[in-house]
Amino acid sequence: MIETVMTTAYTDQKPGTSGVRKKVKVFQQPHYAENFIQSVFDVIEDRVGATLVLGGDGRFLNREVIDKAIRMAAANGVARVIVGQGGILSTPAASNLIRQSGAIGGLVLSASHNPGGPDEDFGIKYNVANGGPAPEKVTEAIYARTRAIDQYRVVTSGEIDLDRVGTQELNGMAIEVVDPVAAYADLMQTLFDFTAIRGAELTMAFDAMNAVTGPYAKEILERRLGFAEGTVRNGTPLEDFGGHHPDPNLVHARELYDLMMSNDAPDFGAASDGDGDRNLIIGRGIFITPSDSLAMLAANAHLAPAYADGLKGIARSMPTSAAADRVAEALGIPAFETPTGWKFFGNLLDAGKVTICGEESAGTGSDHVREKDGLWAVLLWLNILAATGKSAKQIAEEHWAQYGRNFYARHDYEGVDSAAADALMAELRGKLSDLRGQSFGDLTVQSADDFAYHDSTDGSVSSNQGVRILFEGGSRVVFRLSGTGTSGATLRVYLERYEPVGGRLDADTTEMLADIAAAADAIAGIVRHTGRAAPDVVT
Ligand code: G6P
Ligand code: ZN
Repeated sequence: MIETVMTTAYTDQKPGTSGVRKKVKVFQQPHYAENFIQSVFDVIEDRVGATLVLGGDGRFLNREVIDKAIRMAAANGVARVIVGQGGILSTPAASNLIRQSGAIGGLVLSASHNPGGPDEDFGIKYNVANGGPAPEKVTEAIYARTRAIDQYRVVTSGEIDLDRVGTQELNGMAIEVVDPVAAYADLMQTLFDFTAIRGAELTMAFDAMNAVTGPYAKEILERRLGFAEGTVRNGTPLEDFGGHHPDPNLVHARELYDLMMSNDAPDFGAASDGDGDRNLIIGRGIFITPSDSLAMLAANAHLAPAYADGLKGIARSMPTSAAADRVAEALGIPAFETPTGWKFFGNLLDAGKVTICGEESAGTGSDHVREKDGLWAVLLWLNILAATGKSAKQIAEEHWAQYGRNFYARHDYEGVDSAAADALMAELRGKLSDLRGQSFGDLTVQSADDFAYHDSTDGSVSSNQGVRILFEGGSRVVFRLSGTGTSGATLRVYLERYEPVGGRLDADTTEMLADIAAAADAIAGIVRHTGRAAPDVVT
């Protein structure tokens, strides 16, 4: 039975970098999730008779909202939903299913690397038919709809069994409950040389952080690639991720880092986040920054079957280091610089202008789906190690010897008072035109601007995407506010220094960036505005 429920609009359902992300308590307000989901349906013009993919990272509220979304899809004319068993789908697996099934789009329930549980975070993101996050014009239309909505439709009768693989029916709509892993694992097998990886007999540690990649990693690494049982750690998805942040960085994946720096380190270490789209790469004795990982993967991608014919181009987000640009130059292919957010890569991938994309925020991926893909990055690394017989450390050192090294770090100031953070950015923007030629210590400003992106494929312009200050000699600092936080503001300060071939390639990163960090504070007044003497997280 279809019921029409009267509702009142919420004013705070504006999708951020990656959908609507809020505290669970916010989502638990009456009709909150329903309002957003109905607004998405109202914006999908061709939903009647269409296929929709549904799944999430298994965090607290996941099942409940999946159940609602299925009932609402059935009431809104959708012909078929494909849903991962138990309501589970990693973000890249959802992207793959949308593409493979010819779906009109999908709802991905996740707050990515943010913690989960009754007092933590939840999120809903809408992905479009290419499998990627909805572009801004779609998210703007959804937001406009959320502010006007006064009713939603839902099928209230009938049972849905999310755990039973197979097809069920609800009010005339087919519900296909699928194994969340199979199609994704098959796709990975077509991209990489599983025989070579298996034959290399490498050892590794993969930390699934009690999040969604556990079952994917067990199937692919332990079953299909023959890594020893126990290679996948924290491999059972938990609603609260065991109380941890499922964020694969050096703070939250500390145990893995310590292992990889110890005498007991296996050949290779990696981790992924809450919804499986991010990656952390640590070789024995060496952490590879996401920016470097992008460059090294691009430089060696031809060793994997899917990329044997070479890359069409490489794209990176603006705050990501320029290491990948040097690879693109050497390969004679174009390099693109986009704003933060995977959605900006979608058009370039669809247009066939780039094959590999990456972000400093631990996201790397290719044209095989339209999301970043944590396990994909891990498998490409493994393929490269197997094909070359080299260690990750050797790959990195040889890369720097050939291209020079972009020393890089990101300083995060979390939970900053929003007004203070806005004031810092406003002050910075206000003095951009005066900065040129000014010196801070030994660094002289060569140029300063607020990044704006002109999308060459659809002509759209995205302004105010981050303040970048370039110093003479190629060093750089970028300032922007995070678009994914759920409380207060997070100021991100990205520091980068290029050391050419023959230079101090194995120097300490903190030391190499010290003068840029000091200049960043002198320019933006970080301490003055935030009251913080030091960043909360350095990645
Ligand atoms: C999400 C997006 C990424 C983005 C990241 C950082 O993970 O999918 O594309 O780079 O957020 O966003 P933030 O606004 O917090 O720096
Ligand atoms: Zn994520």
